[in-house]
Amino acid sequence: MYKIAVIPGDGTGPEQVNEGLKVIQAASEKFGFSYRTESYPLGGNYYLQKGEVLPPSILEELKQFDAILLGAIGHPDVKPGILEKGLLLKIRFELDFYINLRPVKLYPGVETPLKNKGPGDIDFVVIRENTEGLYAGSGGFLRKGTPNEIAVQESINTRLGVERCLRFAFEYCCKQQRKKLTLCGKTNVLTYAFDLWERAFYEAGKDYPEIDQDYGHVDAVSMWMVKNPEWFDVIVTDNMFGDIITDLGAMIQGGMGIAAGGNLHPGRVSMFEPIGGSAPRYAGKNCINPLAAISAGAMMLDHLGEIKASAAIEKSIARICNEKLEDLSAGRMGYSTSQVGDLVAESL
Ligand code: IPM
Ligand code: MN
Repeated sequence: MYKIAVIPGDGTGPEQVNEGLKVIQAASEKFGFSYRTESYPLGGNYYLQKGEVLPPSILEELKQFDAILLGAIGHPDVKPGILEKGLLLKIRFELDFYINLRPVKLYPGVETPLKNKGPGDIDFVVIRENTEGLYAGSGGFLRKGTPNEIAVQESINTRLGVERCLRFAFEYCCKQQRKKLTLCGKTNVLTYAFDLWERAFYEAGKDYPEIDQDYGHVDAVSMWMVKNPEWFDVIVTDNMFGDIITDLGAMIQGGMGIAAGGNLHPGRVSMFEPIGGSAPRYAGKNCINPLAAISAGAMMLDHLGEIKASAAIEKSIARICNEKLEDLSAGRMGYSTSQVGDLVAESL
C-alpha cells in the first residue's frame, strides 16, 4: 500500500492533480497495486488564511509518505517569492530532493516550434541539481536602500552535492540505456563553481567507461537545444542552469501542458509535479491540459516501482497526443481537462 501525499496547490493545480489521480486510479485497477492518498491544502489560500506557508508539523508528516504529488503553487494575491521559497523550495531542501529529473520528449503528433525536427530528434533528459547553487539562499544586502547598497547572491557548490548529482546522472544513463552524458556549465566564466563540477564529472566518469562524456557551456547548450536537439541524451547541470534550460526543453517538447518533473531523493520519499505554473487565469475553466500532471503521476509510479503501470500511462499519453488532441495548449485541445484525463485512463 503506497502512501501518497497530494498537494493540489493554487490556480489550476487542483484540476491538474485530479486528472493525475484519476489515471493513477485506473492504473491501480489494471495493474493491481494499492495506495492511499492524503491531501494537504497548502498554497496561496492557506497562507492568506493562516499567515503561515508550511507548518513544521506538516513538513514532518510529508517525510512519512512514499511519494508526494504536487499540482502547482502561485497565487495572484501573494507576493512573488513567498510561496516559492516557503513551500516549494522549502520542501525540496528539507526533504533533500537533490535531483530534479526533467525528461524532454516530443511525442508523435505533437507540434514543436523547431523547424524540421521530430520525435526522433527530441528525446533527452535533464538532470538538475536541486538543493544548491544560487538557490541555496546564501547572500545578503549591505547598506540596503542607500545609493551605495550591495546585493550579494552566492552560488554554493559542495563536493558532496555536486558528486551525488553527477553519480545519479551516470547511474541513470546506465539504467536507462542512455549512452552520452553532457555536463552543462560555464567553465569559462564561473571558474570556481564549474571547475569543481568539471573535475568531479571527469573523475566520476572513470567509474562509467561505457558512458560517453561531453561538456557544453550553458549558452551553447541552449543554442544546440534549438539547432541540434538530437545531440543530447542526458544533460546534467546545476540548479539555476537546470531551471532555465528545462523551460526551453518544455517548449520544444510541446509546451508547459506536457512537461513533468520529479524531485528525487533516490530511495526516499520524492515529489512529482507538472513543471508549469498555477495559471490562475485558467483556473476552474476545465480547459488546461492535464497531461503534465498525468505524466508526473507516471514518473511517480516509476519511482514507486510500478514500472509497467508507469510505462502504460506514458504510452497512453503518447497515443492520445497522436490520435486525439488537436493542440496541447489550454482551451485548444478539442477536449476539456477532465475529458483528456478520461481518454488517457480509458486507453490504458
Ligand atoms: C521550477 C520553478 C521553480 C524553480 C520556482 C517556482 C521556484 O521555476 O520548478 O522550475 O525556480 O525551481
Ligand atoms: Mn523553472
